[in-house]
Amino acid sequence: MPKKNQTLGEFIIENQADFPGSSGELSRLINSIRLAAKVVNHEVNKAGLVDIIGAYGETNVQGEDQQKLDVYANNKFIQTLTNREIVCGIASEENDDFIQIEGHNGDHQNKYVVLMDPLDGSSNIDVNVSVGTIFSIYRRVTPLGTPVQIEDFLQPGNKQVAAGYIIYGTSTMLVYTTGHGVNGFTLNPALGSWYLSHPDMKFPEEGKIYSINEGNYVQFPQGVKDYIKYCQEEKGDRPYTSRYIGSMVSDIHRNMIKGGIFMYPKSSKANNGKLRLLYECNPIAFLTEQAGGKASDGFKRIMDIKPTELHQRVPFFCGSIKMVEKAEEFMKKAE
Ligand code: AHG
Ligand code: MN
Ligand code: MN
Ligand code: MN
Repeated sequence: MPKKNQTLGEFIIENQADFPGSSGELSRLINSIRLAAKVVNHEVNKAGLVDIIGAYGETNVQGEDQQKLDVYANNKFIQTLTNREIVCGIASEENDDFIQIEGHNGDHQNKYVVLMDPLDGSSNIDVNVSVGTIFSIYRRVTPLGTPVQIEDFLQPGNKQVAAGYIIYGTSTMLVYTTGHGVNGFTLNPALGSWYLSHPDMKFPEEGKIYSINEGNYVQFPQGVKDYIKYCQEEKGDRPYTSRYIGSMVSDIHRNMIKGGIFMYPKSSKANNGKLRLLYECNPIAFLTEQAGGKASDGFKRIMDIKPTELHQRVPFFCGSIKMVEKAEEFMKKAE
C-alpha cells in the first residue's frame, strides 16, 4: 500500500514485484524518466530568462511549428533514455520515424520501447500556462537480438506495461501507473526529490466540469453538439462548468482530482480529431482506466484500437465514467 510522502525511489523499490519478468529494467526506465523530467522542469520554470521560448523555426511531422521547448524536451528525454541502456526504441511526436537504440555493442537485448509526447500544450509555453510530458511503455514484440521494428510501436494500448505524465504546473508532478493503480509524486525542487503526494488517485465517478474547445462547435458532430447543450441545460446538477486549458495533461489532471470529462472530438476540420493515439490518448487512457475512469473515441475503448500508423489521430472522450457514458449515449443517438 503506497505510503504518503514516501520518496519515488522507495516506492519503486517497494513495488518492484509489480514488474514481473523485468529484472529491474522497468524500474530503471521510470527512474530515467524522472531524471529527464527534473532537467526539463529546470528549463520550463525559468523559460522567460533563457532562450527557450518561441518557435524553433522548423515544422514537425504533425505540420506544427516546433517550439524551442518541444525540441529541448525531446532531446533531453531521448538522451536520458538512450544513455540508460534500457530501451530498444523510442517514438516521439517530434520525430517522423522511431529511433532505433542498438544497446550494448549492438546486441539489441533491451526489452522496452517508449512512445512520448515530450512537451504537451506547446501553445501555452510562451504565456506561462502549465504544460506536460506524456509517456507510454511497452515490451517489444519482435525477437530480442534483432533491430526494433514498427510492429513494436503499433501495439494496442491494452498492451502497455506503464504510462504516465509529468505536469509542469504550480508544482511539478509525475503521475504514473504500471497497471496497479495511479500514484502522483510531487517534486521538491530544493531537494530534487519526488514525494508521494497523491497516493492511489481515483477519477470521481461523476463530475461537473466539461473540457472542450468550443471554438470548434460548428464543426462538431451532432452528438457532441447535443452533449454540450446537455451540459449547459439548467436541470438537476447542471449547468456544468466549462474549463479548457489547452494542455491536455493539465485538463486531465484537474478532472481526475475534481471529476470531469475531456473531449477532443473529430470535426469537419479534423476528421479524426487532433490528439495522437500512441503517445497522447493511449497513455492517458491507461491512467484513466487505472483510476476508475473511462476513455473512448465516442464509441469504442481507446485501448482496444489497433494502431496502423505512428502518428495517427483519434477522437478522444476521457474522464469520469458516468460523464463519458452520457456523452457516448448522445454520440450513439445522433449516429
Ligand atoms: P501538443 O502541444 O503536444 O501538440 O498537444 C497539444 C494538444 C493538447 O495538449 C491540447 O488539449 C490540444 O492540443 C489543444 O488543441 P486546440 O488548441 O486545438 O484546442
Ligand atoms: Mn505538438
Ligand atoms: Mn500533446
Ligand atoms: Mn507535444
